[in-house]
Amino acid sequence: MPVHIVEHPLVHDALVILREARTPPELFRRMAVRISLLLAAEATRDLPAASVTVSTPLGPAEGRRVSGEVVVVPVLRAGLGMLDAVLELIPSARVGHIGLQRDELTAVASRYYSKLPPTLGESFVLMIDPMLATGGSAVAALDLLREAGARNVRMICIVSAPEGIALVEQHHPDVHIYTPVVDDGLNDHKFIVPGLGDFGDRLYGTQ
Ligand code: PRP
Ligand code: URA
Repeated sequence: MPVHIVEHPLVHDALVILREARTPPELFRRMAVRISLLLAAEATRDLPAASVTVSTPLGPAEGRRVSGEVVVVPVLRAGLGMLDAVLELIPSARVGHIGLQRDELTAVASRYYSKLPPTLGESFVLMIDPMLATGGSAVAALDLLREAGARNVRMICIVSAPEGIALVEQHHPDVHIYTPVVDDGLNDHKFIVPGLGDFGDRLYGTQ
């Protein structure tokens, strides 16, 4: 499975602010948007584009416009913190939602919501979920996307653990993962170490 480690210094600059325990939700949200923009740009490098000619004030200019359907799929709730950034880059994208919640004791993800566009099979699908820990949520979401017909799927995560990467590789070896970092591993509560804590809680101030 291709794992793309995004080394851009601006990505890592935002990541340390997200990791810092004293970062308040307001700044956390801004950094989530910033890092998501940069990661999404990397994950969409080979988005289909068509040649166009436009007229500048001085004459015709050749260029390329993004063509083809793009579907962005945030995994609720934390993935919503990345959505605006992706839509800023690809305003025409359709949005599918998948709601998953990890059990606090077992860390097993269960689905509580799903609404996907009908065009998944022909689309470039970008799944966004900031944390790839055990990989249970990612695999559940990817299973759902596959069942709904998705064929060309990429995934963007802000922090990954080796366990999560291995599980996605086992179940969905063709899915490309874009992440700035693979951390050391998981603690007894299946949180990424050093990670950044509970992304959803930090994003929304619910801890
Ligand atoms: C977080 C995160 C992922 C999941 C990762 O969501 O956004 O979806 O945990 O963990 P995993 O790889 O072990 O499955 P959480 O279930 O905490 O829900 P939330 O987004 O509603 O806070
Ligand atoms: N979900 C989070 O938000 N953080 C982790 O470290 C693991 C799962």
